Amino acid sequence: KEILQNQESQAAMKQLMSDEIMNLIHENMKPRDTIMAYYRCAIMEVETKFKVLNEQFSLEYDRNPIESIKSRTKSMESLAKKIRDRNIPSSLEAIEENINDIAGVRVICSFCEDIYMLANCLLKQDDITLIEIKDYIKKPKPNGYRSLHLIISVPIFLKDEKRDMKVEVQLRTIAMDFWASLEHKIRYKKNLSEDLQKELAEELLYCANQSAELDMKMQKIRNKI
Ligand code: GTP
Ligand code: MG
Repeated sequence: KEILQNQESQAAMKQLMSDEIMNLIHENMKPRDTIMAYYRCAIMEVETKFKVLNEQFSLEYDRNPIESIKSRTKSMESLAKKIRDRNIPSSLEAIEENINDIAGVRVICSFCEDIYMLANCLLKQDDITLIEIKDYIKKPKPNGYRSLHLIISVPIFLKDEKRDMKVEVQLRTIAMDFWASLEHKIRYKKNLSEDLQKELAEELLYCANQSAELDMKMQKIRNKI
């Protein structure tokens, strides 16, 4: 009887312990972690929308306009840096209000025309709100950077709440992505002389224009089919 009682109290103790631990976790779960989880949910929503479009095109036209999708939430370090650099109050509300790229979805497309087709399909959806659009394809950055950027708001549906979250969507071709990845790596190389920096910038701009021409040629080839 004593052993039985002992086992029962052990089980009760275990239950109590895990309840207590769960409460502790909930009490200590920082609002920041909750917000970051919401941004991850928003990424899932946006990714799914693009995957659905890709699936439909694959069914109807036997081709995939999307080569790949890469998503990320902003790291705490770069978020902290942006808050500091832009003098944003460090309340969660101010951060949500002022920082548009905590959630980022990058869609790599096969052809340049697919970028606009996909962007239009996304923006037509009745739960998507366009906040800002930057067309660095029609108007490339002075360094040669090309991509179509959308800041959108997308709802996520929680247990008993609907929450609108901002997501930065970058749409680009494989060639634009190739250039941007290498340019990013080179840009963060430290201790380069000013002359070398200037020389690299010129060469990068040349490469950006070359790859834009290549994108155009590939589009023309495809349009013949
Ligand atoms: P930031 O996110 O602080 O740069 O805000 P912004 O208003 O300047 O945004 P913009 O739309 O110009 O760029 C946002 C993102 O696009 C960056 O975080 C990069 O991922 C990408 N991007 C913009 N310009 C360049 C560039 O010159 N080179 C590369 N590799 N990426 C770029
Ligand atoms: Mg950014």
